[in-house]
Amino acid sequence: MRLAIVGATGAVGRTMLEIVVERGFPADDLRLFASERSAGTKVDTPWGKIEVEDLAVSDPAGVDIALFSAGGDRSRRFAPAFAAAGAVVVDNSSAFRMEPDVPLVVAQVNDHAVSDRPRGIIANPNCTTMDLMMAAGPLHRLAGLSSLVATSYQSVSGSGMRGMDELLRQTDALRVDPESLQKGGWEDPGAEVYKRPIGFNVIPFAGNETDLGYTDEEWKLVNETRKILESPSIRVEPTCVRVPVMVGHGIAATLRFDRPVSLDEARAALASAPGLQLWEDRIPTPLDSAGIDDVLVGRLRATIGEPGGINLWVVGDNLRKGAALNAVQIGELVAAGA
Ligand SMILES: NC(=O)c1ccc[n+]([C@@H]2O[C@H](COP(=O)([O-])OP(=O)(O)OC[C@H]3O[C@@H](n4cnc5c(N)ncnc54)[C@H](OP(=O)(O)O)[C@@H]3O)[C@@H](O)[C@H]2O)c1
Repeated sequence: MRLAIVGATGAVGRTMLEIVVERGFPADDLRLFASERSAGTKVDTPWGKIEVEDLAVSDPAGVDIALFSAGGDRSRRFAPAFAAAGAVVVDNSSAFRMEPDVPLVVAQVNDHAVSDRPRGIIANPNCTTMDLMMAAGPLHRLAGLSSLVATSYQSVSGSGMRGMDELLRQTDALRVDPESLQKGGWEDPGAEVYKRPIGFNVIPFAGNETDLGYTDEEWKLVNETRKILESPSIRVEPTCVRVPVMVGHGIAATLRFDRPVSLDEARAALASAPGLQLWEDRIPTPLDSAGIDDVLVGRLRATIGEPGGINLWVVGDNLRKGAALNAVQIGELVAAGA
């Protein structure tokens, strides 16, 4: 079985390689792809020193499973060619997520969807939606999710290596004059990735503006939730916020159901859900989630304004479960015959 990682030099692609090695992915051989900028670079792996290939001039013949994480344009252009050459593509971009003939899969939530893939492509959900679905999925199975009000607190690694570089650079620039951060007069550190400074700040806007004043990240939360939970009528109210955190997306959510759900029922459903840790004695934060596979859920409370719903906080490593780990888990399902 030959595995390929496309976008292997990026924040997600590097994490994919780490996870493939950690979990002993059943591959006999590995190919790595990126842009012409990285082509020729050699990467040490358990399969030997592997040279990164230029995706634009590559021949996908012989690849059985391809984990794509090189951006939507590359997925649109190259994923169909990999699939036509016989590979099952697991695509981490948003290019195919809402296509009706492409399954959108959160491993451990809707694994059954993997096997229905007429185009040979399986989509990996958006990182924020993914982490939230790990908690919303078991509660939906319990009582039918009818509405979801969700505010995300998204880390800068959600914008790749460039996002992390921008946070570090702006933090260094702004900390030189701490008084200006308290009293005003700070000097604009200059931004390339975000519209406003992210160092020592919070930006209530993640993604790009699209319809009705919502960002594309917010629409992903709406549409992908409905597709993954196979319930087009779920009402979702999303707000996506960028915070000065390196890794780990948090989501504060209010969930309402087809019938009232008690705290004990919700606790039992979440405590037994795979890939999820329910923290009741400690407060789960992005720093706790960074570098681990499980998604953490805490601050579990019964709704007070209108009883019968659940308020909770979910936090997960956006590079692992939010992206790379889930893609590898889907690859494992395919490798096992799904
Ligand atoms: N970061 C997250 O939390 C997250 C979560 C879910 C989904 N995603 C999605 O995953 C994808 C990658 O994100 P990332 O955070 O890893 O980004 P990143 O750190 O910027 O890495 C991008 C990768 O794509 C490659 N690439 C860029 N242009 C290319 C081209 N023209 N041809 C071939 N390869 C090219 C890069 O190769 P070079 O090094 O050669 O430039 C690099 O390997 C995006 O679609 C993103 O939306 C990210």
